[in-house]
Amino acid sequence: MKIFIDTANLDEIRKANEWGIIDGVTTNPTLVAKENKDFKEIVREIIRIVDGPISVEVISTDVEGMIKEAVEMSEWSQNIVVKIPMIPEGLKAVKILNGRNVKTNITLIFSVNQALLAAKAGATYVSPFIGRLDDIGHDGMQIVRDMVNVFKLYNFKTEIIVASIRHPLHVIEAAKAGAHVATIPFNVIEKMFAHPLTDIGLERFLSDWGKVPNR
Ligand code: G3P
Repeated sequence: MKIFIDTANLDEIRKANEWGIIDGVTTNPTLVAKENKDFKEIVREIIRIVDGPISVEVISTDVEGMIKEAVEMSEWSQNIVVKIPMIPEGLKAVKILNGRNVKTNITLIFSVNQALLAAKAGATYVSPFIGRLDDIGHDGMQIVRDMVNVFKLYNFKTEIIVASIRHPLHVIEAAKAGAHVATIPFNVIEKMFAHPLTDIGLERFLSDWGKVPNR
């Protein structure tokens, strides 16, 4: 499973990238707004840091507007993936953008049917938002498991990015489900490192090493 970082914060992206675990980046308008910086500048810097797919989202909701934004952003780098909302106009745009070799990530997916339609339209990625489904009392991860099965059954090339991840257990479940990608917030990546037995074990090794004569 590939690991993307779900943030527009450059320090977080730099740190995680130095750990050697980042395959790509996903952003959205909310994450970009948090940074209070010029959008293009943020994306240009991400492109310099990470050599992998970088998702950036359109704001238009009509086909012409989405295509105009998507084509412009895709010219910034061949790693740009354009995030398009899961609406009928969005799928129309995907079909046209495929013809222009622009990669797409269909966002705000909350059901297997939505993922199926996006895959049929030829999306490069679909992003099911599992945390937001959990928030309203649905089992978010179940739709990921179902999507993985359906995509396998029919040999869809579209990759599943598990998004709206809230805690490390979501990452384990995404990996067990066979998702292609998990896009993970920085604070969750940090938690994935942690284990008390690692800390205790390291402390003991270092203190025992102190007892070795003539080291
Ligand atoms: O990037 C899309 C997704 O990961 C958003 O997550 O926490 O706002 O539901 P969240």
